[in-house]
Amino acid sequence: MKNLSPEKLIESLEWRYATKKFDANKKIDKNTWASLELALILSPSSYGLQPWKFIIVEDQAIKDQLKAVSWGQSQVSDCSHHVVFAIKEKMDEAHIDAFLNQTAKIRGIEASSMEGYKKMMLGDLVTGPRSHMISEWAARQAYIALGNFMTAAAVVGIDTCPLEGIDPVKYTEILGLAGSGWKVVVACPAGYRDAEDKYATSKKVRFDAKDLIIHK
Ligand SMILES: Cc1cc2nc3c(=O)[nH]c(=O)nc-3n(C[C@H](O)[C@H](O)[C@H](O)COP(=O)(O)O)c2cc1C
Repeated sequence: MKNLSPEKLIESLEWRYATKKFDANKKIDKNTWASLELALILSPSSYGLQPWKFIIVEDQAIKDQLKAVSWGQSQVSDCSHHVVFAIKEKMDEAHIDAFLNQTAKIRGIEASSMEGYKKMMLGDLVTGPRSHMISEWAARQAYIALGNFMTAAAVVGIDTCPLEGIDPVKYTEILGLAGSGWKVVVACPAGYRDAEDKYATSKKVRFDAKDLIIHK
């Protein structure tokens, strides 16, 4: 299946930029937004475990509260939808079982037939060496979803700005996640660029391809 020409893909990626100012009066329509929620859900993750939650904030009062703990960045209050990426702080058997049961249901197989796969995941992420860096592992997965989201948004003409300039602890509190085993790692407001955002026409700064791509 090929729906997008290489030229159109590059056009979308060139069009995307880290939007500094959103038009606070423009809201993303339901259909377009639904496709972007699906893009989040369809993001790949290690083992398929999806150690994430995507909190979509449209409520203006909450957006204003979050702006105050986002280095005052106006994108948070002016965007249409503010996407906050939270991760599961610890991987556990219950999450792995939930994933395997979902797999069994969707694919019409017995969860017990995946016992080997379960042991492998437990031995790696729950009791193995990677259990000590599990937050780091989960955050990497969330950043894949972030990238997927931004590219999908650009393809359907929606502006975004990835935001690490946030206080993740305060975000976690404001969104009612404190003590839940989930914590915020990154955020991404989405909406429509303000006509006066001068960054929209700034030339992209990237190292030369020869310094980034190695062909063997
Ligand atoms: C993980 C991540 C965090 C970022 N955090 C911020 C931020 O807090 N505020 C901001 O204005 N831009 C932020 N940016 C945007 C980058 O500065 C921008 O993507 C980069 O300069 C390249 O420019 P472009 O995205 O417009 O092509 C972030 C980008 C990434 C990938």
